[in-house]
Amino acid sequence: MYRTRHDIYGLIQITHNLKFSIIGETIKTKIPIAEPLLKGNELKYLTDCINTGWVSSAGKYVKKFEEGFSAYIGCKNGVAVHTGTAALHLALAALGIGKGDEVIIPCLTFAATANAVLYTGARPIFVDVDTDTWNIDPNLLEKALSAKTKAIIPVHLYGHPCDMDPIVEFAQKHGIVIVEDAAEAHGAEYKGQKVGGIGTIGCFSFFGNKIITTGEGGMVLSNDNVIVQRVEKLRDHGMKKDKKYWHDEVGFNYRMTNLQAAIGLAQLEKIDYFLERKRKIASTYIHFFRDVEGLILPVEKKWAKSSFWMFTILIKKNHYSISRGHLLSLLKKKGIDARPIFYPLHLMPPYKQNKTFMNTENISAAGLSLPSSVTLKEKQILYICNTVREILGVQKFTA
Ligand SMILES: Cc1ncc(COP(=O)(O)O)c(C=O)c1O
Repeated sequence: MYRTRHDIYGLIQITHNLKFSIIGETIKTKIPIAEPLLKGNELKYLTDCINTGWVSSAGKYVKKFEEGFSAYIGCKNGVAVHTGTAALHLALAALGIGKGDEVIIPCLTFAATANAVLYTGARPIFVDVDTDTWNIDPNLLEKALSAKTKAIIPVHLYGHPCDMDPIVEFAQKHGIVIVEDAAEAHGAEYKGQKVGGIGTIGCFSFFGNKIITTGEGGMVLSNDNVIVQRVEKLRDHGMKKDKKYWHDEVGFNYRMTNLQAAIGLAQLEKIDYFLERKRKIASTYIHFFRDVEGLILPVEKKWAKSSFWMFTILIKKNHYSISRGHLLSLLKKKGIDARPIFYPLHLMPPYKQNKTFMNTENISAAGLSLPSSVTLKEKQILYICNTVREILGVQKFTA
């Protein structure tokens, strides 16, 4: 049965009526932005962990999940970690990136991409995105290059692959490493190859709203055994594999638990179904929105297979009198949990730069993500589209 957040919050309200008096906006949310579907072997594998006592990072599910997911992406090795952010951080740390180094990243991405660079002491160098895919613009890479550039992190934003050929060419020409941020793009393909397996390192997130989830979680993928061994060591406090409790460098505790991996393995068994649902949801939205002149709908380039992680649209500038913020709040009142696109990194305090990244700024100001759970029914998508149309003053869609 479809269980909405409204039901859950409603339940809290009823059962804890005396203790909880929070009746805010969230309680009205009926269609969440993205909720996981955990109806496969998740409970069975979790129960196995509990029955056998393997609840920390030792236990069979971590290895199974690492092997299964890396094979799915088409990579030799996977190292499971506790978040996608940790995956990015370990990838850069394993490459020896640190103070005095520069790492090229898109200006339009979730903050974790920049944070991971900053954790190492290196400097993120922002590059504007292109207007079609909203991904890093390969034509602007040369301008961002300096003698300090050590790596580039292409982010496959909202599940659409970056144009990887010119990025690979650029990286090879200048001897810099590609760390793909595929946190939102499990199963997405660039010219038939799964993203996250194209660069030297690929990083994934398994947060609750991702294509597959482990609750919180991430993975570092690479075909390079030396890098993989370094990632494994740094994940485990920097401890030597063959000398217990001997540390010759400072590492981290970024391990994934067997419990998380048990969920991940069950999710992986369903990944093709989840991706199929995401494509169906995207095509249904596009069908219901395609005649609305003031909207820019997501593209899928000829060379790409998008994961359509989050269905995200742009409102054309000066087309409607309503602001994006007002639209979002009206949607919320109608029980639709929509979100703004990520904010431009260079405009936020920790990453502030006195520069202009026009495409990033325009896309960010105009964009919003609509509910994209794999559980969404067609009639819910129709309700969402018609609510948006009504707010924008466009005639409702009728079949
Ligand atoms: C593009 C991108 N990079 C990195 C991350 C970080 O992943 P996590 O939330 O698992 O740390 C996310 C997660 O939302 C993301 O969207």
